[in-house]
Amino acid sequence: MLRDAHHRTIQYVRLSVTDRCNLRCTYCMPEHMQFLERSELLSYEEIERSMRVLASAGVTKLRITGGEPFLRKDLLRLLEKLTPLMDISITTNGVLTAPYIPALKALGIRNINLSLDTLQADRFLQITRRNRFPQVMATLESLLAHQMNVKINMVVMDGINTGELHNFAALTRENPLSIRFIEEMPFNGQGKGFSGINWHYRKILDTLNEKYILEKLPDETASTSLNYSISGHCGTVGVIPAYSRTFCGTCNRLRITPTGGVKTCLYGDDVMNIRDSLRSGAADSELLEALQTAVWHKKKDGFEAAAANRRSQHESMSVIGG
Ligand code: GTP
Ligand code: 5AD
Ligand code: SF4
Repeated sequence: MLRDAHHRTIQYVRLSVTDRCNLRCTYCMPEHMQFLERSELLSYEEIERSMRVLASAGVTKLRITGGEPFLRKDLLRLLEKLTPLMDISITTNGVLTAPYIPALKALGIRNINLSLDTLQADRFLQITRRNRFPQVMATLESLLAHQMNVKINMVVMDGINTGELHNFAALTRENPLSIRFIEEMPFNGQGKGFSGINWHYRKILDTLNEKYILEKLPDETASTSLNYSISGHCGTVGVIPAYSRTFCGTCNRLRITPTGGVKTCLYGDDVMNIRDSLRSGAADSELLEALQTAVWHKKKDGFEAAAANRRSQHESMSVIGG
C-alpha cells in the first residue's frame, strides 16, 4: 500500500500524458509555450509498467489528463493497455474528443470531465485564445448522447465568466451532468498575473443560492467537490475549493507529469522521477520502494506543500495535469 505519515492512503493517480494543448487558456499557460520533446516524455511502455506497479500497491483509479490528452499520438493504444489495470477517467478540453467517444465506451471508460468555462463563443475565444467553441459543444452533445458520466469543470474567473454561473447551473435542469465550479489556482505558467482569488467557493455558492435552492449531497470519499442537487433538475452542481484547499485531510491523490515527475501534492515540487528510475535500470520493487518513500513524506496539506516549494507556483497546469 502507499501510505503517508498523516494516515492517508493513495488510491488515485493523475497522469498527464502530454504538456501540449490545442487551446491556450489564460489561467493555464501563456500564448507561447516551450513544449517538451517527445523523447523526454514517459513512453507508453514506461507508463504501462509504472501503472502495473501502482496497481499492485493498491491504486484503483487513474485519471488521464494533459495538456490535452487526445493530442498524444495513439492514446487509445495506451488506454487499451491500462483499462485492465485500473478504473480510468479522462479530463479533456473536448476539441478533438467527439470521434473517440464510441471507442472509449467500448473500452469501458465512462467518466469524462470536460473543461468548459463559458457558454458563449466570443468569450470562449477570449479565455482560450482559440476559436474552437463549436467543436467542444459538439463533444458535450455526443458525450450525453452516448450516456457517458459527464462533469463539466468551469474555472471561475473574476470579471470574466462570473455572470454565467446561473446559466451553467441551468444546464443541469434537462441534462444528467455535474457542473463543478472551480476556484482559480496560480498555476498559469505566467499566462496571466495572479494575486489570490475574489471568487471563494462560498461566494460561488451564495451566487448560485440567489437563483436556486441547493441541497447538499453526501460527500463521496476523498471528493474534491462539494456537491448539491437542485429541485427539479436531473443533474447536480458542485464547487471545488482548489485554492482554499479544504479537502487535503482526505487527499488520496498522486500526480505524474509527462516526464515522469511525481508530485505528492498539486502545490508541491516533483519529489522523484519515474522515467529516470526506469531508464537507469530500476527493478519494479525498487520503483515501488521509491514511490512508498515519496508518499510517506507527502505534506500535510497544500499550504505546507506550497511553503516548501521553490518552483511549481509558476508551473503551467498543462505540465501538472490539473
Ligand atoms: P473526479 O475524479 O471526477 O472527482 O475529478 P477530479 O476533481 O479529481 O479531477 P478533475 O481533473 O476534473 O479536476 C477538477 C479540478 O480539481 C481541477 O482544477 C483540479 O486541478 C482540481 N483538483 C483535483 N485534485 C486536486 C487536489 O488534489 N488538490 C487541489 N487543490 N485541487 C485539485
Ligand atoms: N486553476 C483552476 N483550475 C485549473 N485548471 C487548469 N488550470 C487551472 C487553474 N489555474 C483545470 C482545468 C481542467 C482541470 C484539470 O484543471 O479547467 O478542467
Ligand atoms: Fe492533496 Fe495537495 Fe490538493 Fe491538498 S492541495 S488536496 S494535499 S494535492
